[in-house]
Amino acid sequence: MRLARTADLWWKNAVIYCLDVETFFDSDGDGRGDFRGLCQRVDHLHELGVTCLWLMPFYPTPDRDDGYDITDFYGVDRRLGTHGDLVEFLRLARDRGMRVIVDLVVNHTSDQHPWFRAARSSPDSPYRDFYVWRSEPPPDGPSGVVFPDKEDSLWQYDDEAGEYYLHRFYKHQPDLNVASPAVRDEIARVMGFWLELGVSGFRVDAVPFLLETAGALDAGDLPDPHDYLRDLRAFLSRRAGEAVLLGEVNLPYPDLRRFFGDEDGDELTMCFDFPGMQSLYLALARGDAAPLATALRERPAAPKDGHWATFVRNHDELTLDKLSDDERAEVFAAFGPDPAMQLYGRGLRRRLPSMLGGDQARLRLAYSLLFTLPGTPTLFYGEEIGMAENLAAEGRLAVRTPMQWTDGPGGGFSTAAPNQLAGPVVEGAFGPANVNVATQRDDPESLLSWFTGIIRQYRRCPEFAWGTCVILDCPGSSAAFAHRADLDGQTVVAVHNLGKEPITVHLPLAGADRGTRLATLAGAHQATDDLVTGDDGRVELSLDGYGFCWLRVRPPHPGG
Ligand code: GLC
Repeated sequence: MRLARTADLWWKNAVIYCLDVETFFDSDGDGRGDFRGLCQRVDHLHELGVTCLWLMPFYPTPDRDDGYDITDFYGVDRRLGTHGDLVEFLRLARDRGMRVIVDLVVNHTSDQHPWFRAARSSPDSPYRDFYVWRSEPPPDGPSGVVFPDKEDSLWQYDDEAGEYYLHRFYKHQPDLNVASPAVRDEIARVMGFWLELGVSGFRVDAVPFLLETAGALDAGDLPDPHDYLRDLRAFLSRRAGEAVLLGEVNLPYPDLRRFFGDEDGDELTMCFDFPGMQSLYLALARGDAAPLATALRERPAAPKDGHWATFVRNHDELTLDKLSDDERAEVFAAFGPDPAMQLYGRGLRRRLPSMLGGDQARLRLAYSLLFTLPGTPTLFYGEEIGMAENLAAEGRLAVRTPMQWTDGPGGGFSTAAPNQLAGPVVEGAFGPANVNVATQRDDPESLLSWFTGIIRQYRRCPEFAWGTCVILDCPGSSAAFAHRADLDGQTVVAVHNLGKEPITVHLPLAGADRGTRLATLAGAHQATDDLVTGDDGRVELSLDGYGFCWLRVRPPHPGG
């Protein structure tokens, strides 16, 4: 019984890797990545140890929000390939044992979507009700534009329609009306379509806003929007029992927990841990483990079959909106002091390696936390080689630059001229000359080799993913973060030093007899032999600045 559950709940110890087909690998030299290119690079992902690929939107799009503005939920953008190419890719991924999930962006469509064109053309159109219209914007409607640099209202007057429509994001992204049964049917059809093609679920875009269309406007008349999420999950489970909904829900923990549903987890299978991610950055900025420990203690448990998805970087601005103003200012000062590095007053448009000034030890420390803290590690393409950003690209595109495969022109991403590329390549110290897959692949000391090794080790330690996590006291060192994970009588321990000075900690290991040994699995501490617990059941351990280690607890040798 347990075994079957362990195998079925594949997302619990998955390694998810997010990529945009458009910036991954260009097979035909037109400057844009494509599905055929992705097929040629599937083995890179397989060798890295990734188990699930999350494809950012590849649907037909006017591309005014990097593909999150969609004109056909069933299509493949011609610039990226055909359905045939996509199916070839799905087959290749499956052949390598990797699952694929795709972005489900159904809070809104592009204003070029045929549904919106029809809707705005006449109040009698069957599509009119697919969107949210008002003759006057409601004075007490939802507030808070997502892109404050470009928008100042959630309502846009449309000349053709003679009414205002709701748009939570850009004005060219009208919100769908999920209160409409026809829209709900269509969303189910979209999911059903991609499931038939073999995807293992969806990264669901902007979930609170998706539900809000129903909730905020006519809350009195409408059922609980979470009923709708439950319906979606039930539909998904009927169609594909192994498929997941991985939700983008950037809310404080108590609100966020509701999106998992009841104790059995009948809504989203997984939620990104946005508050935890933000606390990680505060902890890194301060060299102090406390913010991270506090966040983990406050984080509600996911339902038993659900899981948190943890991440260091995603494709958007690195949002720090859940920190206090002072805390955010601290992280800005540490990692993005130049206003050009900041976005929307709430986030950073940098990647971790440049924020850390290329400090390899500190970088590995951060990713070691990612792989040991409870939750499914979710990587953004290029993290495995230490790619940074190009601030010359507009807004969030700074972190969506072409993947760096070689030290050649265009980073080996494409043979097209630089001004034809899907985005500008990173320049300077983190550019392809210094950071690329080809060079790192053959270097056992490279970040890529390190990632490959740490992922292998993570997959060998199901305790981190499945076990009970307990944060251990580290009296005397505020920089130390230590935790243990227990599963079926097996224990692993991870210790991290967030500070730049070396530390020594005396870890309490409840339940461990004197003479219990701890074998090192990853990272390094300063002792040359296995660690052994003393009479007080504690183990003494010294780490370099920004050092970390993973340990497996072994019973004492018989006879002492
Ligand atoms: C989500 C996506 C973001 C996009 C927005 C609108 O927040 O992560 O990239 O712009 O939704 O679809």
